[in-house]
Amino acid sequence: MQLTKPQTEIFISNARFVSVVAGRRFGKTFLSTGALLRAAVSGKNKNVWYVAPTYGSAKEIAWQMLIHTIPHEYISKTNESSLTLRLINGSVISLKGAEKPNNLRGRALDFVVLDEFADMRPEAWYEVIRPSLSDRKGGALFIGTPKGRNHFYDLWARAKMVQRIGSLFSIRLSMVATYRRKRLTLPVKT
Ligand SMILES: Nc1ncnc2c1ncn2[C@@H]1O[C@H](COP(=O)(O)OP(=O)(O)OP(=O)(O)O)[C@@H](O)[C@H]1O
Ligand SMILES: [Mg+2]
Repeated sequence: MQLTKPQTEIFISNARFVSVVAGRRFGKTFLSTGALLRAAVSGKNKNVWYVAPTYGSAKEIAWQMLIHTIPHEYISKTNESSLTLRLINGSVISLKGAEKPNNLRGRALDFVVLDEFADMRPEAWYEVIRPSLSDRKGGALFIGTPKGRNHFYDLWARAKMVQRIGSLFSIRLSMVATYRRKRLTLPVKT
């Protein structure tokens, strides 16, 4: 998979927590699948989650994107009814919906993506997912479009366009970056 320049800037950050605010169609979900795959192949038996605001949206968009992005020779088992993918190294990628935070309780996590974080209830992160990252010092990618002044806004509001504070790398993509991305995908006539 080939990332765009702004996607690459985010991907190469080695911060434990990465927060990205970007516009519609920036390639947030595409970047998320890349980050999931990297985490899953970084060692054996990794437990990696992709969380969308609802289970339905995880299934509709990210599941298809994952299946198409991961090289087939890496996959040992695909389970579409539970939205889990097992890789040949024993790692498991699971897709979840944040609408029922209690369903997010489980074993220790190595990495999690929260796609469209602004649309999730904040307790999904603070009370349920964050503690699951403690055992293995897992990392997280928060990614989304801003939706007013909420918990996601709080994460980056005081940050500059690109900033590293401790274990948090935050980036706010300008509309120009989003526009460039669009130009790459839209047919010439539109
Ligand atoms: N680096 C890339 N290379 C090729 N295609 C890409 C890349 N990044 C994104 N795309 C494609 O562009 C489209 C939009 O990407 P994606 O769905 O990840 O964007 P998004 O920011 O999540 O959009 P939305 O705001 O609708 O959630 C998809 O068809 C995706 O496959
Ligand atoms: Mg998306």
